[in-house]
Amino acid sequence: MSRTVRVDLGDRGYDIVVGRGVAPGARLKELGARTALIVTDTHVDPLYGAACESHLRGLGIEAKRAVVEAGEETKDLRHAETLYRAALEAGLDRSSAVVALGGGVVGDLAGFVAATFLRGIAFSQAPTTLLAMVDSSVGGKTGVNLPEGKNLVGAFYQPCEVLADVTTLATLPEREYLSGLAEVVKYGVIWDAVLFERLEREADALRAREPVVVEEVVARCCEIKAEVVRLDEKETGVRAILNFGHTFGHALESACGYGSLLHGEAVSIGMVFAARLSQRSRGFGAGEAERLIALLERLGLPVRPGRAAPSWETLRRGMGTDKKARGRMPRFVLVDRIGAVVFGCEISESAMEETLRAWA
Ligand code: NAD
Ligand code: GLY
Repeated sequence: MSRTVRVDLGDRGYDIVVGRGVAPGARLKELGARTALIVTDTHVDPLYGAACESHLRGLGIEAKRAVVEAGEETKDLRHAETLYRAALEAGLDRSSAVVALGGGVVGDLAGFVAATFLRGIAFSQAPTTLLAMVDSSVGGKTGVNLPEGKNLVGAFYQPCEVLADVTTLATLPEREYLSGLAEVVKYGVIWDAVLFERLEREADALRAREPVVVEEVVARCCEIKAEVVRLDEKETGVRAILNFGHTFGHALESACGYGSLLHGEAVSIGMVFAARLSQRSRGFGAGEAERLIALLERLGLPVRPGRAAPSWETLRRGMGTDKKARGRMPRFVLVDRIGAVVFGCEISESAMEETLRAWA
C-alpha cells in the first residue's frame, strides 16, 4: 500500500511515493540510467544500504555505495569533492544517477553533487528520517555548508523521484523522530487546520509511530509542500511560509551551538515565539496559541528556550543574519489563525524583545 503525490513542475515534475517497503529506481530506469551512486551515511548504510543496492541491481542499474560519516559536519565542499571522485571511480556518465539514501544531510549533499557532477545528472531521493520525508527530500533545495554558515552554497535541483519508505522510521532514534514532528506541526499551522486537528486527535498514535497514521500524515505533509513548491519553486514569495518558526529557531540553534538542539527542537521553540509575536501584532487568539503549545508538548517537543538560553542580544544578532532578513531586520512568518499565515512581517525591536522577555 502506498500513496503518490505529484510535484507539478512541468517537465521537472515528479512523483513522491509514500508507503511501506517502497524503494527508489523505477523512474531512473525509465530515464535509461544504467549506473548509479548511492550516497548514504554510516548509520543508514548498515541498515538499508545493501537492500537499496540490490533493489537497483534488480532493476538492471549497476549501483555502488558511497558512505559518508553521519552528521551535519559531512555536509561540506570537501565531502562533495570526495563524492565527485567516487562517482568517477564508479564509472558514472551523463546518463547515470545519484541516489540519496538517508536524512536531510545526505539528501542535501547528494543532491548538490547530482546537480553539479557533469553539469547535472539524474537524482533520486530515498529519505529515511521523518524530517527528510516531509521536508528536505521534496522541493529541490540542495546544498552544503561553509564554515561561515549553513546552506551557503547550493542549487535548486529537483529529484526525478522521491521514495519515502516509512518502515525505515522504526530505527530512527527517538529524539530525531520527535524533531521531525515539529515540521509536521508546522504544516498544520501554515496551511491546513484539518491536519492540525488530526494531529491533536492522533498525537499519541503519531508519537508511537503507528504505521498507518504516520504514512497518511507524511503523505499529507508532502501534498502541502508539493503545492507550495508548485506555486513558488525558487522562493520569491509564498514558499517563505515553510520557514514558519525558523527565524527564531535558526538563531537559537546557532547560538546554542549546532548539535546541542536538534533542528526540529529549535523550530518547535521558534514556532511558539512566532505565535506569541502573532498574538501581539496579528490578533492571533491566546487559546489558539495554547493549542499549539499543548500539541508540541504532547509530541515531546520543547516550547521554551530553557535555562541555558542565549542572551537577547545574541538571539537578535542571529535573527538579523537570517537569509530572509532585510538590512538586519528579521522578517517573520506570523499566524492569523491555525491554517493561515502571512510572510515577510517586520516587528519593532521593542515588540520582539518584550515578547521574548515576557515568554522566556
Ligand atoms: P540527518 O540527515 O543528520 O539524520 C539524523 C540522524 O539520523 C543521523 O545520525 C542519521 O545517520 C540518522 N538516520 C537517518 N535515518 C535513519 C534511520 N532510518 N534509522 C536510524 N538512523 C537514521 O538529519 P535530518 O534531520 O534528516 O536532516 C537535517 C538536514 O536537513 C540539515 O542539514 C538541514 O539543513 C537539512 N534540511 C534541508 C531542507 C531542504 O529543503 N533541502 C529542509 C530542511 C532541512
Ligand atoms: N525547507 C524549506 C523549503 O524547502 O523551502
